[in-house]
Amino acid sequence: MYQALYRKYRPKTFEDVVGQEHITTTLKNEIAGGKPSHAYLFTGSRGTGKTTCSKILAKAVNCPNQAGGNPCGVCDICRGIEDGSILDVVEIDAASNNGVDNIRDLRDEANFTPAVAKYRVYIIDEAHMLSTGAFNALLKIMEEPPEHVIFILATTEVHKIPATVLSRCQRFDFKRISGDELSGRLQYVAQQEGFALAEDAALLIARLSDGGMRDAISLLDLCSSYSHDITLSTVADAAGVVGQDHLFSLDEAIASRDPAQALAQIEALGERSVDPERLCEQLIGHFRDLMIASSVADPGPLLTCMPSEQEQLKTHAKAFPMGEILYILTVLQDCLGRMAKTTLRKTELEMAAIRLCSPQLSTLPEGILARLERLERALTAGAFPQAGQAPAPLAKEPAGCGGEDLPSPTAEIPPPPTPKEEKVAVPFGPWQQVLERLEQLNGALYGALCGSNAYECEGVLLIDCKNPMFLSLIRDNDYSRKSIRQAVMEVTGRKLRLGPYKPEQYQTKPSQPDPLEDFLNNLSLPQESVEIL
Ligand SMILES: Nc1ncnc2c1ncn2[C@@H]1O[C@H](COP(=O)(O)OP(=O)(O)OP(=O)(O)O)[C@@H](O)[C@H]1O
Ligand SMILES: [Mg+2]
Ligand SMILES: [Zn+2]
Repeated sequence: MYQALYRKYRPKTFEDVVGQEHITTTLKNEIAGGKPSHAYLFTGSRGTGKTTCSKILAKAVNCPNQAGGNPCGVCDICRGIEDGSILDVVEIDAASNNGVDNIRDLRDEANFTPAVAKYRVYIIDEAHMLSTGAFNALLKIMEEPPEHVIFILATTEVHKIPATVLSRCQRFDFKRISGDELSGRLQYVAQQEGFALAEDAALLIARLSDGGMRDAISLLDLCSSYSHDITLSTVADAAGVVGQDHLFSLDEAIASRDPAQALAQIEALGERSVDPERLCEQLIGHFRDLMIASSVADPGPLLTCMPSEQEQLKTHAKAFPMGEILYILTVLQDCLGRMAKTTLRKTELEMAAIRLCSPQLSTLPEGILARLERLERALTAGAFPQAGQAPAPLAKEPAGCGGEDLPSPTAEIPPPPTPKEEKVAVPFGPWQQVLERLEQLNGALYGALCGSNAYECEGVLLIDCKNPMFLSLIRDNDYSRKSIRQAVMEVTGRKLRLGPYKPEQYQTKPSQPDPLEDFLNNLSLPQESVEIL
């Protein structure tokens, strides 16, 4: 019968337990010295070795061949405890046996000397689930425990254990297992099983498991059902996540303010069945890494990635001022929260992408602070405003981390277009407010209009939107037209007709829709240009 890999590779001795040396060393010393405690409390996150260590401890205190604190694993006692045939070691799942009666039974039985082993060991898993009555009954026996009894309480939620019980236990905190330790153990399991496991693939599994060994080995198990030659893309496919390269391209699109690129990538990943929620979580993880890379001198221990990726993270982090990274994290966390409440999860992610590529849309304090931080950076680098100069067009960086958007001061500024005789279109000032209202009235249309501008000409609101979907929405969909008119009416109190803006038909007056944006565009930089909005 197939045995799940995480069960097959449950450590048999304290030496095999990875990443918890602070615990295993103490336990071994106590056992080898013949002085185990009467009560232990094992706490820590899921799949980090609590139950595993409880079992090793139960064997080690009873094994007649115990050496250096470890059980031999082969004697009758060790084998009997392993297969559950020795009734002196009892595992209680407190999730289903949490009543006072269960603990009273245990108390009566505990007074008897063990049948075959040296100690009666009670492993109480999920101990935080015990009822108050059960805790009180347990406390009674813990106050004066018989010599031959050892309690091991295991829990992920130590704050739910009463202080009176806590104070009678020797407490051990199991820590999350580091990326290197996880991937080391994964390599060991892969080698034993005859799988080829690429280094970066092991690190991706480790990163996705968030410090839990059970999850890591289970994911390895899943990957091995796809292929015994496990590469980065095997892991990405098995876990339904994207590789680092996609996350790096998405951060480039955000840094270079390229919503089209960001949306195209989300679309392409969606076609490969990548779940938007998972992608959002991965982006949060990625920007968390960028935050670490830009704020810690030696980020290695805090990152789970290849050394080459670490360098890439540092380079990409330079494209973002810290305030902006915090803003991006806020928007993504918010997006993740909203995804839980809607079926349109992809739209939520697309909206977040638009927001991140167009921080001038943000009304959040974090967004405004992020933009001010860019401004400060530019000014500190020696940029100064050019009086009376027309806003320079933003140069697009072809690839890389984006950011260095301003043309150098020597760059030629294209002559203004010759004024046309026909009609004069005036920028429509309250367009952002109209869009904000529209977000509430008609989310899909808002999504299509993100990043758009609007002008007014002779009672007509001319909408300048690059999104090709917009035209069909506005021409063929009565509801869309109504939503915009309603938003305009609510914001301005005016009734305007609607139309698409065609630049060749109108002469436009320069506008100041966003003074900060224009100020930034007017900054002249010294020879060494800096990144800016
Ligand atoms: N520190 C570790 N070293 C090696 N393997 C581990 C470690 N921790 C967990 N494992 C692996 O994960 C599996 C589950 O571990 P265990 O049952 O000890 O976790 P736990 O901490 O009790 O988790 P839970 O809180 O979910 O009960 C083990 O069978 C083993 O394969
Ligand atoms: Mg457990
Ligand atoms: Zn033994």
